[in-house]
Amino acid sequence: MASSFTNPIVLGLLSATMILVSIATCMSTADQSPLEFEAKALLESGWWSGYHNISRRCKWPGISCNAAGSITEMILSDAGYNCSEVHYRFGELKFSSFPNLVVLDLSDCQLGGNIPPEIADLSTLKYLGLSSCDLSGELPLSLGNLTNLEFLDISSNSIHGSIPPQLGRLEKLVSLNLSWTGLTGPIPPSLGTLTNLRHLQLSGNKFDEGPIPQNFRNLTALVTLSLAQCGIVGPIPSGLGQLTNLEILGLYGNKINGSIPPEIGLLSNLLELHLHGNMLVGSIPITLYNLTNLKYFLLAINHLDGSIPQDIENLKNLRILSLTDNNFTGHIPLVLCRLTRLEFIDIGLNQFSGSIPSCFGNLSNLNYLSLRSNLLEGSIPQEIGNLEKLTLVDLSQNSLNGSIPSQIGNLSRLTYLDLSFNQLSGHVPVLSATKLHIVDVENGCYKISPDSFQGNKGLSPCITSSKTSTANKSKIPLYIKIFLPIVIFSTFSILCCLIFSRFKNSRVGIQQTKNGDICSIWNYDGKIAYEDIIAATEDFDFRYCIGVGGYGSVYRAQLPCGKVVALKKLHRSEAENPAFDKSFRNEIKFLTEIRHRNIVKLHGFCLHRRSMFLIYEYMEKGVYSTT
Ligand SMILES: *[C@@H]1O[C@H](CO)[C@@H](O)[C@H](O)[C@H]1NC(C)=O
Ligand SMILES: *[C@@H]1O[C@H](CO)[C@@H](O)[C@H](O)[C@H]1NC(C)=O
Ligand SMILES: *[C@@H]1O[C@H](CO)[C@@H](O)[C@H](O)[C@H]1NC(C)=O
Ligand SMILES: *[C@@H]1O[C@H](CO)[C@@H](O)[C@H](O)[C@H]1NC(C)=O
Ligand SMILES: *[C@@H]1O[C@H](CO)[C@@H](O)[C@H](O)[C@H]1NC(C)=O
Ligand SMILES: *[C@@H]1O[C@H](CO)[C@@H](O)[C@H](O)[C@H]1NC(C)=O
Ligand SMILES: *[C@@H]1O[C@H](CO)[C@@H](O)[C@H](O)[C@H]1NC(C)=O
Ligand SMILES: *[C@@H]1O[C@H](CO)[C@@H](O)[C@H](O)[C@H]1NC(C)=O
Ligand SMILES: *[C@@H]1O[C@H](CO)[C@@H](O)[C@H](O)[C@H]1NC(C)=O
Ligand SMILES: *[C@@H]1O[C@H](CO)[C@@H](O)[C@H](O)[C@H]1NC(C)=O
Ligand SMILES: *[C@@H]1O[C@H](CO)[C@@H](O)[C@H](O)[C@H]1NC(C)=O
Repeated sequence: MASSFTNPIVLGLLSATMILVSIATCMSTADQSPLEFEAKALLESGWWSGYHNISRRCKWPGISCNAAGSITEMILSDAGYNCSEVHYRFGELKFSSFPNLVVLDLSDCQLGGNIPPEIADLSTLKYLGLSSCDLSGELPLSLGNLTNLEFLDISSNSIHGSIPPQLGRLEKLVSLNLSWTGLTGPIPPSLGTLTNLRHLQLSGNKFDEGPIPQNFRNLTALVTLSLAQCGIVGPIPSGLGQLTNLEILGLYGNKINGSIPPEIGLLSNLLELHLHGNMLVGSIPITLYNLTNLKYFLLAINHLDGSIPQDIENLKNLRILSLTDNNFTGHIPLVLCRLTRLEFIDIGLNQFSGSIPSCFGNLSNLNYLSLRSNLLEGSIPQEIGNLEKLTLVDLSQNSLNGSIPSQIGNLSRLTYLDLSFNQLSGHVPVLSATKLHIVDVENGCYKISPDSFQGNKGLSPCITSSKTSTANKSKIPLYIKIFLPIVIFSTFSILCCLIFSRFKNSRVGIQQTKNGDICSIWNYDGKIAYEDIIAATEDFDFRYCIGVGGYGSVYRAQLPCGKVVALKKLHRSEAENPAFDKSFRNEIKFLTEIRHRNIVKLHGFCLHRRSMFLIYEYMEKGVYSTT
């Protein structure tokens, strides 16, 4: 009896309690728990190990919250953390605990490992920065579920596999950067549906020797399209002419064949055209001379032919003109002299004929002039001596005659002068440059100690070998080959920089260190000095060595700015060999001309009394040729 009476009461009380409890639970989940979940997830991530007062988390560096105190931004890259030193583990952040996160920037943090598929739980995310995070594995398909993303940067990692076609679902994307990640497979055509894209960067990958997808013509908002060194084979689609907002078109270092479509001339906003290092044939379409905003015009290392018409006069903003290593013919047009913004002219390794226009003296901004290996004749115009900014003049391997204008001796910034293999006669002018370290003259003079050029007269310090002293110089055409290698690198640095800096906001820094040695590096803050390299490698300790070869050893070094680079250090004995200069020069030339698909980016170089080295982008399984 009693039990039959009490049971309903007990049951009623029980169920009432349960209802109350569940209401309370509901209320607490709605009011407090999300924030508590965030707090808990932050603590558990261990990413802010130096910070303990969780109630102040919205003030922790790199964290921003909304008015309700929920986290909206995590920007570790710039928050003063030792992001590159500490190994944060990606998976330790419980993504589902951050329902309001809009910005997640972990660039330059050494996360390691995969991108966890759970990242798709961050459904409000608009900005995901994972550049240089030491990531590996494949890209999770779930990335395609982050449909609010506007900015996605996974550049400079060692990802495997292909681009998930699911990325084509990220309709709001404005910027997609997957460059230098080692991706393979084809470029998914689904990317051609992302019509809000303004920046698409896929350089430095190993796509399957396929073409540029035809439907990229639909990406009409594009401002930047970078598909350099990524294994593209096939023609330039004429449809790219529809991308009229394009400012940068980077297609260098592929196997692009066929001719340049005339439609490229419709890209009236184009500032930079990088087509060098491909297999293009035919002549330059006349429409390209309508690109009046063009600053960089790089067509080097192709199989282009034809001559350069008067129309080039329209390219009033041109700074860089590189046509090297093609089959161009005809005269150098005089109208080139009206392009007074030109800083760099390299039209070497072609079949240009006629003489060097004396009006080149009007190109007052010129600092690099290479006309080497053409069919040029006549004399060297003395007006070249007016070009005070010149640092490099290479007129070698032509049929120039007459004497060397003495005005060349007044070019105080000139650091590289090559006039070899011409029919020049007369005297070598007094060179006023003070930084000449090695002079290698073809007819037997070579290797001068560094300081003996200060205040020198002519090339008198030349040590004439017995072989040439027997020759009658007055009858023999004067073959002069002057290599001034120490500072040629600063000139080549300009070339490198121009070629390499386009897709990164790089700053050039050439630093004179205490010892007066030159250290130059790009993409960093310009403050990297020899000492930093020594510190990073513990004076080239062999523990940091990752390869040894023909004329150098390769080291892995982490710079103070956090970047990991590869250093190719030249064997000292090699550095003292006169032939070293040539191979070093060839190497830089090779790297700057980017003929090769496996080549890695050259960031800079250091020349120091004790050692000389090149600084490359570090790639986990990169090929660092040491021969
Ligand atoms: C944590 O921060 C809160 C709010 O600023 C402050 O009131 C509290 O005293 C701090 N606790 C500790 C242990 O510092
Ligand atoms: C970074 O790490 C170094 C030691 O590796 C430490 O001395 C320094 O305090 C750390 N800096 C910050 C901001 O945590
Ligand atoms: C993406 O979201 C859909 C539905 O929200 C889900 O069914 C699917 O499994 C998700 N895909 C991935 C790869 O996470
Ligand atoms: C990737 O590309 C975007 C868009 O051009 C750019 O803002 C970003 O800085 C690039 N990332 C790196 C690491 O250069
Ligand atoms: C995109 O390009 C493809 C092929 O180039 C074309 O068939 C299609 O109609 C285009 N789509 C839009 C929306 O313009
Ligand atoms: C471009 O190269 C591909 C692959 O070698 C070849 O099939 C195609 O015919 C070439 N196109 C032209 C225009 O030369
Ligand atoms: C260059 O542009 C002008 C007007 O913008 C146009 O009339 C002309 O046909 C174009 N020339 C070429 C060669 O495309
Ligand atoms: C230039 O043309 C010649 C003959 O037509 C050819 O043998 C050579 O390979 C071409 N050079 C380049 C760089 O295309
Ligand atoms: C070079 O400049 C001079 C003086 O400024 C001018 O008279 C001459 O026409 C210019 N030459 C060319 C080819 O533009
Ligand atoms: C230079 O060569 C040209 C022919 O190419 C000739 O007319 C001229 O006289 C030569 N000048 C000198 C100084 O030898
Ligand atoms: C070189 O410069 C000096 C001083 O500026 C000047 O006196 C001399 O005439 C110049 N020489 C030539 C060949 O232009």
